[in-house]
Amino acid sequence: MLKIQTVLALSFLFVASYASVQDFCVADLSKPDTPSGFPCKDAKKVSVSDFVFAGLGGVGNTSNIIKAAVTPAFTAQFPGVNGLGISIARLDLAVGGVIPMHTHPGGSELLLVIQGTICAGFVSSSANKVYFKTLNKGDIMVFPQGLLHFQINSGKGPAIAFVSFSSPVPGLQITDFALFANDLPTELVVATTFLDAAQVKKLKGVLGGSG
Ligand SMILES: *[C@@H]1O[C@H](CO)[C@@H](O)[C@H](O)[C@H]1NC(C)=O
Repeated sequence: MLKIQTVLALSFLFVASYASVQDFCVADLSKPDTPSGFPCKDAKKVSVSDFVFAGLGGVGNTSNIIKAAVTPAFTAQFPGVNGLGISIARLDLAVGGVIPMHTHPGGSELLLVIQGTICAGFVSSSANKVYFKTLNKGDIMVFPQGLLHFQINSGKGPAIAFVSFSSPVPGLQITDFALFANDLPTELVVATTFLDAAQVKKLKGVLGGSG
């Protein structure tokens, strides 16, 4: 009888601890990231502040070359999303602002326009077919994982949108930065893009590249 009680108690403990592990895995940002996410923070040290992020209320700083700001709530800023396959960011686009052609290797994106007018689109990988549309307040658009896409403020005032991702670390690669903001030699950029060397050097100058 005692044995059965012990077994029952042990099973209960096992189920309880197993369930708590499955509920969440708040990122321990002091440890390195892994392909399956950050290691979990000690559950005893987890608090509600790990599941709340108050950083998306403010207007992003759009005083930059793209006249736009992305304020992320990814794992690094919001460790509670670690392992949950979800995250969000705020997009501020000043008049004339643009998020240049880019991809998120790690996740699909859902954009919701809160203010202003945004022309957004993506390019399919199979046929390079273009899907773009002018979006107004309340409109949403989805951008499939890994596909090149863009957002342009096509209105007369500032635009605000929120973008959610199907990954807590969606990643970001901006095509122009990949081509012109590094030390990839101009001759290789010319050879791989068919652009004129003068144009490549000009863009490297603007975006801080060299070579
Ligand atoms: C916005 O960014 C620019 C360029 O980095 C900087 O000079 C300026 O002080 C920033 N403005 C605010 C309000 O932080």
